[in-house]
Amino acid sequence: MPVITEIEDLKRIYKRRVPKMFYDYAESGSWTEQTFRENSSDFDLLKLRQRIAMDMDNRSTKTTMVGQEVAMPVALAPVGLTGMQHADGEIKAARAAEKFGVPFTLSTMSICSIEDVAAHTETPFWFQVYTLKDDDFMKRLFDRAKEAKCSALVITVDLQLLGQRHRDLKNGLSAPPKLTPASIANMMTKVQWGLGMLGTKRRFFGNIVGHAKGVTDPSSLSSWTAEAFDQSLDWERIKQFRSWWDGPVILKGILDPEDAKMALNVGADAIVCSNHGGRQLDGALSSIRMLPQIMDAVGDKIEVHLDSGIRSGQDVLKAVALGARGTMIGRAWTYGLGAMGEAGVTRALEVIHKELDLSMGLCGRRSVEDLDASNLLIPEDFATRWKASA
Ligand code: GLV
Repeated sequence: MPVITEIEDLKRIYKRRVPKMFYDYAESGSWTEQTFRENSSDFDLLKLRQRIAMDMDNRSTKTTMVGQEVAMPVALAPVGLTGMQHADGEIKAARAAEKFGVPFTLSTMSICSIEDVAAHTETPFWFQVYTLKDDDFMKRLFDRAKEAKCSALVITVDLQLLGQRHRDLKNGLSAPPKLTPASIANMMTKVQWGLGMLGTKRRFFGNIVGHAKGVTDPSSLSSWTAEAFDQSLDWERIKQFRSWWDGPVILKGILDPEDAKMALNVGADAIVCSNHGGRQLDGALSSIRMLPQIMDAVGDKIEVHLDSGIRSGQDVLKAVALGARGTMIGRAWTYGLGAMGEAGVTRALEVIHKELDLSMGLCGRRSVEDLDASNLLIPEDFATRWKASA
């Protein structure tokens, strides 16, 4: 195994091993990708406060997210098409997460189905749904997730419309990939990936194909979103979805304090401060910059998680120090999966864990539960530079 010391190492291997179409799908933001870039670069504006001669022995990164014990405040975010990044990708990632002791979230847009992931894992995983128009399909998804004993439902609330990612259009993204001279030429150079794909039957959207009605092109993410997603979504509808699920509900994609306050009224157990990894509204502020405003609005009333931009344990530390109960990583585990399958996801988690644990110690803290803003040096205008006028 190559020496992997940081998430960037996994990304380099991932780029070499996976067809361009799927690498580009993961590694893009919408339009100009400004928000995608700033999600990560804004973490650099926060500095860690180094302390010495404080007890750094017996450290623990353990905590809870929606009442469930986690080995560190990190969950695997729902990522679409991961079974195209590596054969049987969702099963591999779910297994790595379960062994590590962090939650895995299965995307509705996964290749392996809910039932398939449940059959190949022991620990309950989280299941993610979009806000779709079709009640029957939604109810069936909820029932299937219940049957599979999923321990939390993540409702993505920031995707009424799909943001435009130029590269997906140019590449003609689909699952399985459409065979064009360019895609064939590129896939021929990805031998390990191709052998894996030839050895599995899981090459279609497993939760959708054969389950959703009236889908014109079941291999296309963009045509399915255009047809099935509820553009007229409102809070009453979100409340209805909440009422269909008995266990914890996490609303993912809240970036504004006003929306965070609304989320309290629908009975969510947690919200994820997120701009969908910069894949939706390009020009929106980074999640880490919005986190302080969200914490001020609802932080004492509801559990807040943060997603978008996390590539290291230092990033996790910063989000937790600003008040997040936990974080979600998306690209970081996808790089690991594409690079080395299950072992790569495990390596991504190990890298982030080590960075979090060591940085926490060097900040003079022994438990992630004790991290707070006093562990950071924060630019004076970090949370106030951009403010809504009303
Ligand atoms: C789906 O949620 C995507 O961002 O592609």
